[in-house]
Order: sequence, then C-alpha cells, then structure tokens
Amino acid sequence: MPYTSYSILTDDDVHALYTYFRFGVTPVDVRAPDTKLPFPMNLRASLKVWNLLFLNKDAYQADPHQSAEWNRGRYLAQGAAHCSVCHTPRGFMMQEEAGLELSGGQVGTWYAPNITSDTASGIGSWTREELVEYLRTGRLRGKAQAAGDMGEAVEHSFQYLSAADVEAIATYVKGVPPIHDSRDSAPRFTAGKMSSELATLRGTDGIRSDNDAHPTGAELFQGNCASCHSAQGQGSKDGYYPSLFHNSATGSVNANNLIATILYGVDRTTSKGQAYMPGFGGKPTDFTALSDEEIALAGNYVLVHYGRADIPITAQDVAEVRRGGPTSPLLALSRIGIAAGVVIVLLILAFVIVRKRRRAH
Ligand code: HEC
Ligand code: HEC
Repeated sequence: MPYTSYSILTDDDVHALYTYFRFGVTPVDVRAPDTKLPFPMNLRASLKVWNLLFLNKDAYQADPHQSAEWNRGRYLAQGAAHCSVCHTPRGFMMQEEAGLELSGGQVGTWYAPNITSDTASGIGSWTREELVEYLRTGRLRGKAQAAGDMGEAVEHSFQYLSAADVEAIATYVKGVPPIHDSRDSAPRFTAGKMSSELATLRGTDGIRSDNDAHPTGAELFQGNCASCHSAQGQGSKDGYYPSLFHNSATGSVNANNLIATILYGVDRTTSKGQAYMPGFGGKPTDFTALSDEEIALAGNYVLVHYGRADIPITAQDVAEVRRGGPTSPLLALSRIGIAAGVVIVLLILAFVIVRKRRRAH
C-alpha cells in the first residue's frame, strides 16, 4: 500500500477520495485478506518505528520557480501515481533512497528501470509525446512495452488519466535530474539488431528435432518464441508482436524483465486492445513449461542475438525471479538476528540444565 506517496495528497483530494469510497463504491462484506508480509514486517509495531524514521507527513509544496503544469505533474507523479515507489531504489531499511529518485528499483519479480533524464541509462532520449503514449497504452514501438507491475499500472490507472494530467506527469518526469550508470553507453532501446542466424541453422545440426532432452538456445527460441517474434526477431509488421532488438527489456543492464516475461508473459488490456504473450513458467507437468536452465538458454540466445550480449543470465537468476525476486537484506538480517536469538536462548537453557544435573549428582 503506497501510503508513503499518498501522504502528500492535499486535504481536498483525500476528502474527494473519501466521498467516493464512502458513497460511490458498493459495500461488500468480506473479510480483509491476511497480510502476506514476511515476519517481522507483519507486525504493526515495526511499521510504527519505520514511519517515525522515514514517513514524510507534509502535504505537497508547490515550487514557485516551476510552471503550473510541472507542479501538477510532480504532485501526481510523487503522489497518486506513485512512480517512485517502484522506480526508486531502496536503502537498507527499505526506504526510498534520497537523491536517487527514479533511477531504477526492483519490485518483487520485475525491475522498474531508470527513468531519469539521463540519455543512456534513463529515458532522456524519449520525447515527451512518446512518454505520454507509453503511459496511455503501455507500448512504444521500437522502444518499450509495459508488462508486470507497469502493465497493471497502465491498465488499471494511467490509461484513464485526463490528457492534461498525463502530459503534466510527462513534463515533470522528463525534467527529473539525470542519474547515470557507468555500465550504460547507449539507451536500452538501441541495443541489438536483426539476426538471421536461425535461417542458416535450419536443416543443419544447429537445429535438430530429435533433441528434446537437451535443447540448445536456438532450438528453444525456434520452438517457443519465433512463431510470434519471427525468426529474425523483428516481430510482426503491425507491431503487435514487438521486435526483440530495439526493446528495452533485452537492452537493459538488468535482465530480470526478460526472465520475468518468459516466466509470466504479458497480459495488458487498454483502449488499444489486449497485449497477450503466454508465460512459460508453469508447473513442470505443463507441456509448455520451460525449466530454469531452458529459460536461461532461451534468454541468452535472445540477449546474444538481439540485445545486450554482455549481460548473460544463469539458471540461478531464473530461479531467483521464479521465487519472487531478490529478498531484502533487511529481511535476511532480521531473520539471522532472530535465529541468533533462538540459539542464544537454547544455549542458556542447555547451560542451566547441565548445571542442575551436576548439582544433583
Ligand atoms: C507498481 C510499480 C510501478 C509504478 C507505480 C510505475 N512503474 Fe513504470 N515500470 C515498472 C516496471 C516493472 C517497468 C518495466 C516494465 C516492462 O519492461 O515490462 C516499468 C517501466 C516503465 C517505463 C519504460 C522504461 C523503459 O525504458 O522500458 C517508463 C517510461 C515508466 N515505467 C514510467 C513510469 C511513470 C512515469 C510512472 C508514474 C506515473 C510509473 N512508471 C509508475 C513499474 C512501475
Ligand atoms: C503467442 C505469441 C508470443 C510468443 C510465443 C512469445 N511472445 Fe514475447 N511477446 C508477445 C506479445 C504480444 C508481447 C507484448 C507486446 C506488448 O506489450 O505490446 C510480447 C513481449 C515480449 C517481450 C517484451 C516484454 C517487456 O516487458 O518489455 C519480450 C522480451 C519477449 N516477448 C520475449 C519472448 C521470448 C524470449 C519468447 C519465447 C520464450 C516469447 N517472447 C514468446 C507475444 C509472444
């Protein structure tokens, strides 16, 4: 629940939301689901401490040096649209890192990339109109598509914003200070090119049909991806099936979105219709399911031929995304702390018992 962003909403807007939920939403009597937050984050007391440390309770302060449109955009982007909840990296206590606004963050399975104005690491070379189109439809030909959490944000939220509000958000986001990652020398969407290697392999030993037990990357690509994205990776003419080169998911320094797309596919419905790609991460008994090793092979085939060949993925990377993404070091540490506590208590108990027995003798 991104209340950390909603806290900047004006009293008028919170009141309008209250009125809508109170009188516009039909009451349904069902028990709220139990939290899925892991221990110790599921304790309210730990959230209270966190809020004391990190929650900003001040309402939005307009910047008088900027235009009314920019201020409206910042108010929406930082508040209701909560872009930074996903796109800003988090520190050790899971707080959004001050000074690294919108420079890229992991959201469970998916990676919300750097969208600062840096031309290589961010979206500095997108026009404002392109950003508006992406937020409205979740698709920008030759650049990016929205799957996972971004697909949901577009489908359930951004596509319904008024034209003036999306344009205001784009104006603000385009002006966010650039943050550069030294591993990026060119924009994500410029990576890779068309490759006709598959055609040259067909009918040779490079692609065999009797090889189901130990498929190669090329065979997995031909069997699972080429039918939609085409054998040369250029997708379909109408752009419904995107090209795999000039695609930010394959040109990113972080390959998690390529892995997550193969595992979970894409399913996003907007006024432009449905964008649908099946996932290949089903149970091992599903006949379409691919193992972690196979996804790594297919993914690396895609990266080497159509994307950033310098970012290979391993079966361990796939397993981590399948488990729900990297876990916070804080969680690991608090669990180590709890485990250490348990060990200490057990040691004290053992000590007490041994002493009692000695005395008894
Ligand atoms: C719930 C999490 C979430 C929220 C909220 C969110 N994003 Fe995203 N965003 C993502 C993820 C995840 C991706 C990667 C999607 C993919 O590649 O399929 C993404 C991708 C993008 C991209 C494409 C970048 C590229 O190079 O591919 C842009 C632009 C973007 N988001 C802008 C925004 C803006 C602006 C907002 C706020 C108005 C926003 N996002 C809110 C999670 C989020
Ligand atoms: C049935 C057709 C189909 C198949 C098969 C298919 N895809 Fe896709 N793929 C799509 C569609 C449709 C989209 C989404 C287009 C959009 O978002 O507008 C997509 C999107 C993608 C994206 C971009 C995702 C993002 O978040 O930016 C990647 C990468 C991708 N596919 C790779 C693959 C790989 C690798 C395979 C094989 C393992 C594969 N696809 C198989 C139809 C398919």
